[in-house]
Amino acid sequence: MTIFNASVRWPEIINQLTSRPEANVAFRNRENAMPGNVVAETLRGGLFTRIVGKRLLYFQEVGSTMDEARLRAERGTEEGTVVVAETQTSSRGRQGRTWVSRSGNLYLSVVLYPTLQTLPFLNSLCGVAVVRAISNISGLKPRIKWPNDILLDNKKVAGVLVESAIAGEQVHNSIVGIGINVALDADEIDEIAGGATSLNHASAGDIPRDELLREILEQLDNLYIQLNHGDTPIEEWEELLDTLGQRVRITWRGDEFVGVADGIDAQGSLLLRQDDGVVLALAAGDAVSLRPLNQERQSF
Ligand code: ATP
Ligand code: BTN
Repeated sequence: MTIFNASVRWPEIINQLTSRPEANVAFRNRENAMPGNVVAETLRGGLFTRIVGKRLLYFQEVGSTMDEARLRAERGTEEGTVVVAETQTSSRGRQGRTWVSRSGNLYLSVVLYPTLQTLPFLNSLCGVAVVRAISNISGLKPRIKWPNDILLDNKKVAGVLVESAIAGEQVHNSIVGIGINVALDADEIDEIAGGATSLNHASAGDIPRDELLREILEQLDNLYIQLNHGDTPIEEWEELLDTLGQRVRITWRGDEFVGVADGIDAQGSLLLRQDDGVVLALAAGDAVSLRPLNQERQSF
């Protein structure tokens, strides 16, 4: 593991890094070359954040960055601590699903200490940060499938996972996890073939991971600071949601509900208008599964 602390002067960090054998390998995912330390490359170009990324931990391989981040949060690590891994051996999505992790992509988790009031916005905040970052670095225009799938050409290119430790009215910590397929050849992986894509595939290019990581951290930082000042990301998130207007099937606590995704409420819960007119509000944090029944938009 390599620890980067923003309180250390940059030249010292860079000297340390360039003297380490693992930092000298090519940093882009060239064929037959081990990708380099993406955190080191990101810092080399500078990182301008106030909370997110003040402390950065880099692992060549972990079980899940969520668990590494949670461990640090339980020990009271400073807010904004970021855990990045080149690969994960047991990474997860929502509801315990498996998240395919391979070297050459981006996997990170961030430790935050939100309030009960700001907590509901972390999922949308991450979605907006990821979309902005992808768009700024690649020019691609991702959309979002409620609540947490980032899509390109209707295929999943990234996912967001928020896990929080809450006792009564107190939020002990939240870990926000982000996985982005940068170089992944999704069609070669049976479990996701057909439903997933990557930035390199969608752009027919070679997206620089260090620039993308820097942009994600800076966007997260900006949005989180704004959230703490009372500005929520909901309006921007709503505009990115592909789901709105679609006819969908929702599975929730063993029951199925069919209707039109009519909108979201002020906290990002999905408003499902069922055929009998009854409207159901589903929180992003609930164990909800959503499948579009067709891709046509409904007119109201
Ligand atoms: P829903 O939550 O509405 O049921 P979902 O199928 O996207 O939708 P999630 O829990 O959000 O479920 O995401 C996990 C799913 O993402 C996995 O079941 C798998 O199908 C898919 N997946 C796993 N790894 C990747 C990856 N690297 N890229 C794209 N998709 C992936
Ligand atoms: C989803 O689409 O369900 C969310 C996927 C989140 C994957 C990221 S990769 C970094 C972090 N570590 C994990 O084990 N999961 C998240």
